[in-house]
Amino acid sequence: MSLPYVLLSAAVSLDGYLDDTGPERLLLSGPADFDRVDEVRAASDAILIGAGTLRTDNPRLLVNSPERRATRIAAGLPEYPLKVAVSASGDLDPAAQFWHTGGEKVVYTTDKGAERLRGAGIAADVVPLGTELDWPAILAHLGAVRGIRRLMVEGGGRVHTQLLQQGLADELQLAVAPVLVGETDAPRMFGTGAYPGGPRNRLRVLETRPVGDVVLIRYVPTLPGTGPAVSPADRHWLALACELALACPPSRTAFSVGAIVVAADGTELARGHSREDGDPVVHAEEAALAKLDPADPRLASATVYSTLEPCARRASRPDPCARLLLDAGVRRVVTAWREPDTFVENAAAGNAMLAAEGVDVVVLPEYEGLAKAPNGHLLP
Ligand SMILES: NC(=O)c1ccc[n+]([C@@H]2O[C@H](COP(=O)([O-])OP(=O)(O)OC[C@H]3O[C@@H](n4cnc5c(N)ncnc54)[C@H](OP(=O)(O)O)[C@@H]3O)[C@@H](O)[C@H]2O)c1
Repeated sequence: MSLPYVLLSAAVSLDGYLDDTGPERLLLSGPADFDRVDEVRAASDAILIGAGTLRTDNPRLLVNSPERRATRIAAGLPEYPLKVAVSASGDLDPAAQFWHTGGEKVVYTTDKGAERLRGAGIAADVVPLGTELDWPAILAHLGAVRGIRRLMVEGGGRVHTQLLQQGLADELQLAVAPVLVGETDAPRMFGTGAYPGGPRNRLRVLETRPVGDVVLIRYVPTLPGTGPAVSPADRHWLALACELALACPPSRTAFSVGAIVVAADGTELARGHSREDGDPVVHAEEAALAKLDPADPRLASATVYSTLEPCARRASRPDPCARLLLDAGVRRVVTAWREPDTFVENAAAGNAMLAAEGVDVVVLPEYEGLAKAPNGHLLP
């Protein structure tokens, strides 16, 4: 099942609020940041908000730039991203701007909410999901039925909190405004409750950039999945390993591979790439593992991200990488690309060797293209 990439986007005050308690919407961003948000919207397939934001802000959620809309049309996309609202109660104003501007709209609701929305004549596709709202069901429906690959979530606090707490957010984009709200009852970007990994889990900063007088901070999650279950962070770590593979010295006789070892709490333990430090035959997983104490207790619950399936046979050294991983006690491996027979016959055997000894091997084929990128000269 392919869920969309979920990007949580908001402007926040220095003290973590999305708004104040006054009747008017507090504008935290400036013109430059609104333009940045417009660009992010234009690059999304859908924009989602919670009913609280719809009721409080009455937003239109459009791509405002005519050039960006023209670019979408030229790319064969609808002029505007799909607008998505989420409401359990169905208590939404049919006259709100949300329903009467832009392109297609869908509202996810409960069975009771659907009755109410249909009765009110809401101008949107109403999708009831039973007695309660359920985020995995909403995302699965958006992915499978609506074909949404990139979903931008524009609040409010309850929606952001739930998606992050349920481990469903792929990226956070915060525009931190030089403003202090200082009101306990104002809505916060993230509420109380348990977040994956707890307060010791650290997100990874992807980018920081001043935009006018706000600072954009982009974070990605770091917590590996468990067993065969894939977490958003699995995709980020594998993408990072693909970037690492680009640093390999070129070779005509071996693949360029990147590998990262990540502890169960999301801490990066080591990384490596092929032919690192002038060693002409070292493999990525081998280079990464060599940086760790073999007795490190975190290895047993770590995940190893390797752009290429760990090798099961190799001419250059006695131990193939699958064996090195098993000997290190690694129990979970995420990889993008099965090994082709370029250098060894029936090469695609490392995943099976690992699985035969109880290791969870997860293949994310959507990263195969990135993993192959530095190896094009070796492929037919
Ligand atoms: N600064 C920014 O960038 C920004 C962006 C967006 C919003 N905001 C601010 O955020 C505030 C609104 O945030 P909010 O937290 O009050 O509301 P919200 O997150 O926008 O919406 C919450 C509502 O969504 C529905 N909902 C979502 N998940 C649900 C679930 N799992 N089960 C049942 N219902 C669910 C419920 O609707 P029903 O009540 O209809 O059942 C719930 O009341 C406003 O003050 C707005 O100005 C700021």
